[in-house]
Amino acid sequence: MIRVTRSFLPPLEDYLRYVREIWDRNHLTNDGPLLKELERSIENFIGARSLSLVTNGTLALQLGIRALELKGKVLTTPFSYVASTSSLVWENCQPQFVDIDSRRWTLDPAALEDAIDDETTGILATHVYGIPCHVEELETIARKHNLKIIYDAAHAFGVKFRGKPIVQYGEISTLSFHATKLFHTVEGGGIFCKTDVLHQKVRSFRNFGHRGYDDFDGLGINAKMSEIHAAMGLCNLPHVEKIISERKTLFDSYKYEIEEMSLPLQFPEIPQGTEYNYAYFPVLLPRATDTLPLKSHLEAKGIFPRRYFFPTLDKLPYVQTLKHCKNAEEISSRVLCLPLFNGMTENDLSTVLKALSEFFKK
Ligand SMILES: Cc1ncc(COP(=O)(O)O)c(C=O)c1O
Repeated sequence: MIRVTRSFLPPLEDYLRYVREIWDRNHLTNDGPLLKELERSIENFIGARSLSLVTNGTLALQLGIRALELKGKVLTTPFSYVASTSSLVWENCQPQFVDIDSRRWTLDPAALEDAIDDETTGILATHVYGIPCHVEELETIARKHNLKIIYDAAHAFGVKFRGKPIVQYGEISTLSFHATKLFHTVEGGGIFCKTDVLHQKVRSFRNFGHRGYDDFDGLGINAKMSEIHAAMGLCNLPHVEKIISERKTLFDSYKYEIEEMSLPLQFPEIPQGTEYNYAYFPVLLPRATDTLPLKSHLEAKGIFPRRYFFPTLDKLPYVQTLKHCKNAEEISSRVLCLPLFNGMTENDLSTVLKALSEFFKK
């Protein structure tokens, strides 16, 4: 069976060494030494400061939205994972969907500017599949209209754009360290903040709003990452460079072979100036009517692609759709993410490519 993804696992002995340390210290959570070490190590790896680790990428978004005090209408992408939209609704904001650029598959800056009105307070944009949004155009628009930007960078661990870590664009960027991500802590997330004020706010939110034992800054929640999860991050982080380079090899072979075989598949454009992380391998099929037949054809051969991302988020039962997002709907109806994971063998890759070629030669 070849699944769309497979979690990376470090050598068990490495993990057990950390677990023994945790047992010896009897410090399981609440700002423990492993959490602190992981925060510093990720900051160093990424080349950015002001990281707060949290329980998962969804809480990272919720805390980020709350820290920015977003209210009313927030412009966002319909082409992302459900958590991008559900977090806005959870935080009492009204998502306003704006179409995506048909090449890059991230928010279209022109459509975004058209959608701004007096009630708009912010922008929540996703670097979908780790592909940078039009960050410079978005920043110009946000400055002009006095809007705040939060980036859902769940897929973008390690990505840089024009030499700058992607998490340094916007006021806040959030990451997911879920087990399916290329760097993970089993469950986990992170929040990078542009200012110290935002950083302090997020740290207070994640620990019930505590200021010391008996005092409170304000409302908070429990979004703390445990030592057990931080230990997994510390074991995985030293492997990330190799993980990304292995994925690049697979990604490049997929593309090369698909082009060699002249299969009618298209790919999203990764903008020039991107240091990419090869998080996913999405392909765009010629017609929406090909999607389910191709998925079934692959499944019959033990290959399990996923419809990332379908349906578009403006179809969720708890949101209002004001404008039809034509590009997002078109892409969402024709996209499949093919298997891409560390440990995927050449044999796995040939099996997938052969199955694709059979489908299109029928
Ligand atoms: C784009 C995006 N945002 C947010 C999340 C939520 O992250 P988590 O699963 O860590 O809560 C995910 C999760 O897969 C995601 O893909």
